[in-house]
Amino acid sequence: MITENLNRPRAAIIGTGFCVPERVMTNYDLEKIVDTSDRWIVERTGIRERRIAADDVATSDIAYEAALKALEDAGIRAAELDLIIVATLTPDYLTPSTASLLQKRLGADRAAAFDLQSACSGFVYGAAVAAQFIENGFYKRILVIGAEILSKYINWEDRNTCVLFGDGAGAAVFGAAEDGSGILSCDLGSDGRGPEVLGIPGGGTRYPASEDTISRKVNRIHMDGRDVFRFAVKALPNTLKRSLEKAGMTADELAWIVPHQANIRIIEAASKRLAMPLERFIVNIERYGNISAASVPVALAEADAAGKFNKGDLIALAGFGAGLTWASCVVKWAK
Ligand code: UT7
Repeated sequence: MITENLNRPRAAIIGTGFCVPERVMTNYDLEKIVDTSDRWIVERTGIRERRIAADDVATSDIAYEAALKALEDAGIRAAELDLIIVATLTPDYLTPSTASLLQKRLGADRAAAFDLQSACSGFVYGAAVAAQFIENGFYKRILVIGAEILSKYINWEDRNTCVLFGDGAGAAVFGAAEDGSGILSCDLGSDGRGPEVLGIPGGGTRYPASEDTISRKVNRIHMDGRDVFRFAVKALPNTLKRSLEKAGMTADELAWIVPHQANIRIIEAASKRLAMPLERFIVNIERYGNISAASVPVALAEADAAGKFNKGDLIALAGFGAGLTWASCVVKWAK
């Protein structure tokens, strides 16, 4: 990963956009479905409401809307894109990829397209992949999208998980920059602990969809929350420290951190471990819950639209999730 190589272009974020479904599901709505309370959910997670897609909406539909906004923000046409990467664990189909569906729908005639699956770390993994293509001169304009419709995989009888997740899509256009802005460093990792701790075990080749797997809800989100929590409170600050170290920086030089929005207590723990005030973390978990791969780009695009970022700001993005995986990068803001 490049830190100080000004002879090669860097992958700069030149446009962002996001789309969340209109339907809001509050904690009070969930009180009517499972044995839970607004108080428990707010105190233990920070979530107050989440967005839930209509039955006839698929992941590519909200990804498309987010992509249009990001392209408009970047001031480029879809036909100028070289590559589309969609990070998702909830694609429209097992195949073809959601990225290929978007390539056609956007009219991105020149673009290659593929999906990337590393769960809640997916968008940051996608940004790191985009950086490789841009830094080596292979491509100039890459659209990276994180998009999920998790509500279709929620076990609505499991209060341990159903209160946590929501739907949404966030997108960023990366362009080749020669002015020192863009992705300065990345850190990616995985410990391979698998679906025992977090995943959707059914529906793949290990437990193909069958009446049995469907009736036992094996094709729904399963999580050992405490185990993942213990992992996350270390993984988030540790990956950020490694990205900062690779960029030759310290946390106090960052203007903002855009973390995966899984639990406000995880973000608070990272704030303490990095000695970085909570006010410098972009937090929207109260309104959207955990949107997996869409979490970081929705928070990024929303904060960008609100005018929080200034040209030259150093911003860290960080995700963690199923795999188990983690990913972070340090970006010098180009817009
Ligand atoms: O995006 C991927 C990464 N995911 C994460 O990072 C999630 C990490 N984990 C977490 O955020 C937290 O572990 C949870 C929010 C999932 C759970 O919070 P917790 O403080 O770890 O609660 P717990 O699992 O230790 O459960 C405490 C109690 C249990 O009752 P008992 O056994 O003490 O009687 C649960 O049954 O809270 C109960 N509980 C609930 N009560 C009311 C669990 N879920 C609920 C609920 N409403 N929705």
